[in-house]
Amino acid sequence: MLRPDLEHIAVLDFGGQYAHLIANRVRGLGVYCTVLPPENFRPGADPRLAGLILSGGPQSVSADHVALMQPRLAGFTKPILGICFGHQLLAKLFGGGLARGRERQYGPTPIRCDPRTRLFHELPAEQLVWMSHGDHVAQLPDGFRATASAPTCAIAAYEAEGRPVFGLQFHPEVVHTPHGSAMLRNFLELCAIRTPWIPESMKQRVIGQTRQAAGDAMLFLLVSGGVDSLVTLQVCIAAVGADRVRSLHVDTGLMRLGESDDILKFLAAEGFRNIEIERAEPVFLRELAGVADPEQKRAIIGRLFVEVLRKKLQALNLGDNWKLVQGTIYPDTIESGGTPNAAKIKTHHNRVPEIQAMIERGLVVEPLRELYKDEVRRLGRELGLPQALLDRHPFPGPGLGIRLLCHDGQTPVPPEFADQPRLDHILQSGAGTPSSRKSKSTRRGRRVSILQGRILPVKSVGVQGDERSYRHPAVIWNPAGKLPDWPMLNTLANRLVNELADINRVVLCLDDLTREHFELRKMFVTREGLDRLRRVDDLLHSCIAHIPEIWQAPVISLPLFDRQGNQAFVLRPVCSKDAMTADVYPIAFDLLAELAEKVRAVPGAGHLFYDLTTKPPGTIEWE
Ligand code: XMP
Repeated sequence: MLRPDLEHIAVLDFGGQYAHLIANRVRGLGVYCTVLPPENFRPGADPRLAGLILSGGPQSVSADHVALMQPRLAGFTKPILGICFGHQLLAKLFGGGLARGRERQYGPTPIRCDPRTRLFHELPAEQLVWMSHGDHVAQLPDGFRATASAPTCAIAAYEAEGRPVFGLQFHPEVVHTPHGSAMLRNFLELCAIRTPWIPESMKQRVIGQTRQAAGDAMLFLLVSGGVDSLVTLQVCIAAVGADRVRSLHVDTGLMRLGESDDILKFLAAEGFRNIEIERAEPVFLRELAGVADPEQKRAIIGRLFVEVLRKKLQALNLGDNWKLVQGTIYPDTIESGGTPNAAKIKTHHNRVPEIQAMIERGLVVEPLRELYKDEVRRLGRELGLPQALLDRHPFPGPGLGIRLLCHDGQTPVPPEFADQPRLDHILQSGAGTPSSRKSKSTRRGRRVSILQGRILPVKSVGVQGDERSYRHPAVIWNPAGKLPDWPMLNTLANRLVNELADINRVVLCLDDLTREHFELRKMFVTREGLDRLRRVDDLLHSCIAHIPEIWQAPVISLPLFDRQGNQAFVLRPVCSKDAMTADVYPIAFDLLAELAEKVRAVPGAGHLFYDLTTKPPGTIEWE
C-alpha cells in the first residue's frame, strides 16, 4: 500500500529475482520503501522520495534501457544505488563500459573492499558476498572509483566522487551476503531520512487484507499440510470465522511416505474443522503418464488441483459465492515470472494458467503473497500454531512429481560434452586435491589421487543471472576415497559451474565411479518409481531431519542406472532462510557414507549423489 506521506526509497524493478527482497530489507531497516516499474518513475513528482535503488534484472543493459533512464535520472541528485543489473546500467548511463565476462559468477564470491568508503564504512576489508551475473562493468565512468573487487570481477563495487551514486555488482539484500544489511543501512543513512517508519503488525495487516479480499464469500482452501497452507488456514479463520472456511486436502499420490494420513491426524488433533480429503492419486498418475518435461508436469499438476477443487465445490453445492484461497508466498510469484520484467524460472503450482484466469476474475485470495518463508513462520507463531509444525521442512505443492526426474527415451543426449575436457583440466590442475598440492606426483614419483569428474546426461533447473537455466550436473569423486575439506569442495563446485557452460550443478559421490557407467533410461512418473523415491526419501529424512541447520532436503530420483541396473538418487540439503538463496549443508563425510550405504540397501537403488550447488546457480528443487 503506497504511503506518499512518508519519506521513502523507491526500488525500480528491472525484473531481478530479488527486487521485492530489496524493498523488504529496506523496510526491515525502518525505512518505508516502494517497488516501481522503471517506466513509472517520474523524478521530481515525489518530493518525499529520499533515494533510489535500481534492481537486478535478467537482461543485458541495452540502448533501450539507457534511453528509458537517461531523462529520468538527468536531474536527480538524491542518492542512487545500483545493484547487479542496476550497477551495470548506472555505469553505462554515466559513460562507463560493460563487457560480457568469459567467467560468470553465481553464488558465494570473496571480495576485497575499502572500509573507508561510504557503503563499506567500518566493514571487514575481506568478506563473502553473493553474486549472480554474466555481464560486468569493464570501465568506470569519469569521476567514479572502484571500491571493491573480486578475483574475477575487478569492479565489484564503485562510487562516484562528489555525488551520491553507488554500484554493487553483488546482492546486499540476500541473507547469504553477511554484511549486506550493513551496506544497505549505510546507503539509507546517506539518504538522510528524518522520519523512521514503524510497520504495522504483520498479523493485523494480513488478517485485515484477507477479510477485505474475502468480502462476503465463502473461502475454499487447498491444504497440503505444509507451513504455508496451515498458516493461511489460520489467517482465514481469524479473518472471517471458521464457519465460512472450507478446506480440502488432495492426496495426489505425489506425497511423501504416509504424509497425507499424518496431516489429517494432525489437523484433527489440532481441532481444525471442515476439512475434506480427496484421494486423487489415480487421476494425477494417469495424467502424468508419458510426460517428461518438468514445466509440462508442473502445468498438469496445477491444472489437476483446480479440477479436483471444481468437482468438490459442485459436490458441496456452495453456489457461486466462494473464493479460492492459496498459500502462495512471494518466491512462488517471482519465480513464476510474476512481475513485469522478471524471467520465468519455473511455474509454481499456484501460478498455472487456470489459476491465473481465476486471479484475473477476482476469485483468488492469497494472504501470504508478499511474505517470505521466514515471515510466514513468524506469522504462524503469532497465530499460535505449534512450533513443531512451523519447523517442518517446506514441501512443494507438486510434491514428488517434480522430484522424480523423467526421460522420454527420445530426446538425444550428446555422446560427449564439449565441456568434459575442461572439467578434466580443472580437476587435473589440482583444484580441490586433498593434498592441497597442485602437482600430480609425490616426491617418490607416485601419483597422488586427484578428483575425477563426469558430466551427467540429465538436466535440472537453475537460476543464473536472474534467468532460468536448464543444464547438466557434473558428478565428482575421488578414486582414492579421500575428499577435500568442505571449504575446498565449495570453492571447487562454485568454480566448475562458473567456468563450464554445459553445467549448472555439481554433485559429489563417495563411490569410485571411474569404471562405472550410467545408462539414461526412459522413465516417467509411476507408482513404482514414486514408491522407490518415497522409501529413499523417508530413510534419508529420518537420519537428517533433526539437524537444525538443514532448512530443506529434497531427495531426487534420477533416470540414471548403473551397471547393476540400480538407480541413482540425489540428496540436496540446503541452508536457507527465505528460499531466495541457499547454501550447501556441509555434511560429515562419515554420515554421508552411512546414508549412501542405507540407500544401496533399498532394492533397485544404487549410488547416492550429494548436491554441492548453492542457489544461485541451482534452484533448491531440481525441476
Ligand atoms: P526453488 O526450487 O525454486 O524453490 O529454489 C524455492 C522453494 O519453493 C518450493 N517450491 C514450490 N512450492 N509450489 C510450492 O508450493 C511449487 O510449485 C514449488 N516449486 C518449488 C521449493 O520446495 C523451495 O522451498
